Amino acid sequence: MSYTTALHGGATDDILKSLHKQFTIDDQTLFKITTTFLSEISDGLSSYGRAMAMMHVSPTFLSYAIPTFVKGVPDGSETGTFLALDLGGTNLRVCEVTLQGDQTFSLRQQKYKVSEALKTGEVTTLFDYLADSVDAFLTESSTPSKEPSSLIGSDPYAASNQDTPYLPLALTFSFPVEQSALDSGVLLTWTKGFSAKNAVGKDVVKLLQDAFDRKHIHVKCVALVNDTVGALLSRAYTSGGCILGAIFGTGTNGAYVEEVSKITKLGNSAAAAAGGDMIVNTEWGAFNNSRSALPTTPYDNKVDRESINPRFQAFEKFISGMYLGEIARNVILSMIDAAPKPILFGGRSSDQLNKQWGLDTALLSEIEEAWEGLGRFSLSPGSVEVTELEKLRRIQGVLVKRLELSPPDISLADADIVRQACTLIASRAARLSATAVAAILVHTGRARLWDQGEQSSAGLKDEGKRIGVGVDGSLVEFYPNFQTKLRASLRMLVGPEVESRVDIGMAKDGSGVGAALCALVAQRQSQAARTDGANAYNYEETTIRGRTEVAYLSSLS
Ligand code: GLC
Repeated sequence: MSYTTALHGGATDDILKSLHKQFTIDDQTLFKITTTFLSEISDGLSSYGRAMAMMHVSPTFLSYAIPTFVKGVPDGSETGTFLALDLGGTNLRVCEVTLQGDQTFSLRQQKYKVSEALKTGEVTTLFDYLADSVDAFLTESSTPSKEPSSLIGSDPYAASNQDTPYLPLALTFSFPVEQSALDSGVLLTWTKGFSAKNAVGKDVVKLLQDAFDRKHIHVKCVALVNDTVGALLSRAYTSGGCILGAIFGTGTNGAYVEEVSKITKLGNSAAAAAGGDMIVNTEWGAFNNSRSALPTTPYDNKVDRESINPRFQAFEKFISGMYLGEIARNVILSMIDAAPKPILFGGRSSDQLNKQWGLDTALLSEIEEAWEGLGRFSLSPGSVEVTELEKLRRIQGVLVKRLELSPPDISLADADIVRQACTLIASRAARLSATAVAAILVHTGRARLWDQGEQSSAGLKDEGKRIGVGVDGSLVEFYPNFQTKLRASLRMLVGPEVESRVDIGMAKDGSGVGAALCALVAQRQSQAARTDGANAYNYEETTIRGRTEVAYLSSLS
């Protein structure tokens, strides 16, 4: 019997067994979830009605797959300096990105806090704050980019002074937006705790541009991009090729390169006629809102019910950093309140634990680091392996500090129960994340599901080649073993041969670099329009020529 097993008995043992049962997703269920994923992707590609249904109809009918009007991917040879504004993660960021043209870039950035009042108040107040942040960045920065290559001439719809050049800016806006062109898109719904009023249904580029214009700030928003698209583009820029950009952070989502002919909902539009490839933003956080395939626990139901968007973003609520802490809080509270006898902390709680969202996912991460000997708990070379007893003492320390509990209330058994709960919640998130990646690989013809036993790789797209996946977000970057667990499940789903060819790499600063790449194409597009006349715009002239594929962004509307 291990040290930790000996700590528990009776009721605690039963509770732990039940937790394991509820949070462990077996392989067959994982296959089923992936199959459901595949069918929801197809639904999303064929019908706008489904995505738009979100605003009016039951979420059961919701499937996304949003065409981004970003065609192809860069290859690292692109150059220029651009401004980017990034809203959608924990902070608001303004950055100036310089693409050096040799797969490298430099970046200057400033982060700004987005208060709860801004997230939930009037949308114009939020966008005024965005505009002010850009203004502050430009004012504070000693060397704002004023190179001619970054400046655009008069703005067709905004500039009061037609001769004053303005700085082009790309907006990374990481919420579900139905794009109709590179520089316009309507917010379908808020996610990740935002709920600013009078925003849903509005064009977010226009909201931002109006704010710049109200404040006479000479900046023009030329491109709109989701963070997943940014991750895909930036990973392609730095590594030379990428087919999927995925975020596992505050939220979760993925964007992949799709054949335009498969996006049947584009109908007879010019975008459809142009053919080729286009990046599609899946908004997979909304996958399986009906929960027909996702095995839900009472803890998940509670998180969902008390969230600002019950029954939406089902997948995201199982996976992302915004929610894992809250699931853990609910699990912990249920054990503090257990009858007839409390299971945890002698029945004592704390203000921190009693508050909704009071437990941050970073705490789960820290507890796992304490157990695994990672992060600040890493062993220095040559030191002796730490015993389980010492690891549990570290966890006690973390709980005392972060949850404001008093030391005598936390037994070693308590520390071990909390540790097991954290591992279960995060492992489930990592396994579910693998279903999303597997579904994209299968959907794009790069893998087959191994649910019927071993499958051959013969005839697969990109057979024998590396498959680039750019990822970003706090979970995938910092959570102990998240990526290892994701990979293990991916291997189970698509087999070791394909999995070994999947290059999962961080798309660091993806939101900034990806946005810069979009701004670059928008700028070329605008220059071409000025040269040729807006209506006689020639696609070829705005193409970024690349080794892998042409990348251009159409101005279809
Ligand atoms: C949420 C947003 C999505 C974004 C993701 C990651 O799911 O709806 O647009 O990409 O979070 O930030």
